Amino acid sequence: MTPRQILYCSSEAYPLIKTGGLGDVAGSLPRALQQLGHEVRLLLPAYRDLVNNLPQRPRQRGQWQIDGQPVTLWQTTLPGSRVKTWLVDCPEYFDRPGNPYHDADGEPWPDNAQRFALFDKVAALLASDQLGLEWQPDIAHGNDWQCGLLPVYLNEFDRRPATVFTIHNLAYQGLFDRATFDQLGLPESLWHFSALEYHDQLAFIKGGLVYADHLTTVSPTYAREIQTPAFGQGMEGLLAHRAADLSGILNGIDTRVWNPGTDRLIVKRYNRQNLSDKQINKQALQAQFDLPQDNDRLLMGMVTRLAEQKGIDLVLDSLPDLVKLPVQLVILGSGDKDYEQRLQQAVRQYPRQLGLTLGYDESLAHRIEAGADLFVMPSRFEPCGLNQLYSQRYGTLPLVTPVGGLADTVVDTPLDTTGKTLQETGASGFVMSEVSQMALEAALHRAVQLYARPALWQQVQRVAMGRDFSWQRSAGRYVQLYEQLLQQRPDTRT
Ligand code: ADP
Ligand code: GLC
Repeated sequence: MTPRQILYCSSEAYPLIKTGGLGDVAGSLPRALQQLGHEVRLLLPAYRDLVNNLPQRPRQRGQWQIDGQPVTLWQTTLPGSRVKTWLVDCPEYFDRPGNPYHDADGEPWPDNAQRFALFDKVAALLASDQLGLEWQPDIAHGNDWQCGLLPVYLNEFDRRPATVFTIHNLAYQGLFDRATFDQLGLPESLWHFSALEYHDQLAFIKGGLVYADHLTTVSPTYAREIQTPAFGQGMEGLLAHRAADLSGILNGIDTRVWNPGTDRLIVKRYNRQNLSDKQINKQALQAQFDLPQDNDRLLMGMVTRLAEQKGIDLVLDSLPDLVKLPVQLVILGSGDKDYEQRLQQAVRQYPRQLGLTLGYDESLAHRIEAGADLFVMPSRFEPCGLNQLYSQRYGTLPLVTPVGGLADTVVDTPLDTTGKTLQETGASGFVMSEVSQMALEAALHRAVQLYARPALWQQVQRVAMGRDFSWQRSAGRYVQLYEQLLQQRPDTRT
């Protein structure tokens, strides 16, 4: 095996900065690649909160003027790993408090196009070794629309690495108006439907979709779905056209961060052998949300961005039926103000069965994974989804829609096993028959029935907890892909 050099670019990476699953992936895949013998540099914007939380002072690697902006490159290490991490420091764009993408009211930062165009420009200059650091990667790997212009800029250079673009969520496309396209100084030839233009707008994501050598997305099913109108968000034609260069590689999880046997954020640690200790976490969670501490009630959990994608409205619409069952539900979420208000209203209506925390809380997310019996993810679409993987590891059975990565990672529990034991079926959760309120309620009724038979419930819990979702296999798939790309174009890097 030839050790390869990889520049991995992302707009977030756990534990330095995280808003969702991309953060988890970018915080764990680089380390997994490194463990397979490759050298990875992780490239991130130097957001103020990220810099303030660094465990040690970063080292300065260079300072330049790029597109009229002073840019400093800092080097640090991704905590918990040996992955060298480069931070693109451009004060005007990244030295501001709060979320990487939007202001305190949830409005996108008005200069997002400029911010991520600059980030991508710096990435491209680094990837083609034009900033004097004497390091040239074999692969430049970008993620989501924020990295969409990286392959575009790189295309202009002769000595460029092979490029991979990963779609974590096609619903976020980085759309801006024509004036922004002009401000960015992009060549006029790119204002075309076969390039960056999309219905009279600039679409950053098209930079990745059109110009990267290879596209990946985060599950095999989503890779197929996005070539169809129902899931393609308008990009299905382009994606079908590039089908030969598109693969689905399932996300792995960081099994050190998400492990009920060692998790310091939960009340009582447990494993497959002492599952009864999980109940201590359940009681604590019920207490925290002021719900009756009753073990006969199935405790459902949700940890989610409150966005249409996540099917929160299906849950809200099911509440009148749901509260008739012996169940409780705790939700941790933030996002869409309308969903926030509807949830607050629902809690006032059903205070003995519903608990809610609005906001972002990493440690509560762990306590919900540990304390709930059932983890609910009725997503309309789900590129991969990580919480259903975490919850299986925590013996918290996922209830999911049959889409994307959810379909690829949860095995339904049949009511009738005709002669087989539940273990033999590999059942690890509940898969809804379709995305609808009726299907949600039907699956929930099945879960309640199984919960009433603790021996069977525990069989499914043990199967779920024994499944391997570590990065080992998936990181190897990325390496194979990199090799394949480099073999196809051996003479581009000389
Ligand atoms: P997505 O990236 O679409 O939001 P994923 O399931 O891939 O969905 O990943 C979501 C990640 O973000 C998980 O690690 C989850 O625990 C975390 N998360 C989502 N919302 C919150 C929240 N309100 N508080 C804490 N963690 C959250
Ligand atoms: C996106 C998707 C989610 C996926 C995550 C990490 O945010 O919505 O399904 O797990 O990216 O790839």
